[in-house]
Amino acid sequence: MMLRIPALLSPDEVRQCRQALEQASWQDGRATAGPLAAQVKANLQLPLDSQTGQAIGDLILDRLGASALFMSAALPLKVLPPRFNRYEGGGTYGNHIDNAIFTIPGTAIKVRSDISTTVFFSDPEEYEGGELVVEDTFGHQSVKLPAGDAIVYPGTSLHRVNPVTRGTRYASFFWTHSLVASDEKRRILFDLDQQIQQLSVRHPGDPSLSALSGTYHNLLRMWSQA
Ligand code: NI
Repeated sequence: MMLRIPALLSPDEVRQCRQALEQASWQDGRATAGPLAAQVKANLQLPLDSQTGQAIGDLILDRLGASALFMSAALPLKVLPPRFNRYEGGGTYGNHIDNAIFTIPGTAIKVRSDISTTVFFSDPEEYEGGELVVEDTFGHQSVKLPAGDAIVYPGTSLHRVNPVTRGTRYASFFWTHSLVASDEKRRILFDLDQQIQQLSVRHPGDPSLSALSGTYHNLLRMWSQA
């Protein structure tokens, strides 16, 4: 499932983050790529111990926790600290699938990359190219969202970032280990949850609400691993 989270960050927050990102010191993105990925990766990244990255990462995690849409879609168990990239001058990241397991830096904690998220820090008109292209069962999805928006997509999908031929594209990306590993099952839980929310607005107090909510939690109990 691909899902857009509109305005995860406010325009003010985006402005402040952008200022900090423009002043940060960037390194070659191949530093964190395996040999296969390094052949198709040409971008810049913030070092994992960058203070700017850590501060903006904390802000992102804060906003994710407050996003009912993200929580419902991702059912997060663990979220890796957000990373940051910068594409310009033809910079690109060709087709690849992300590593399955990451370790949280400075710890022994393993995170399975069930879900990928990208948060945009540049507006679409600021750069040419740079679409995030995700291949899923319905074909290609090409994504280029306003600054402050996020896109959530399955970690299992083949994806790329098209070459940025004008301007600069700043973004954050990170992985979530979900309570529910299967994208298909998460989708069913998400749809059910959304319908329960809508029903509770249209027909507050409807007796079917507690039964449906019970079904949701029973499915979550059956499908989740913690
Ligand atoms: Ni990737």
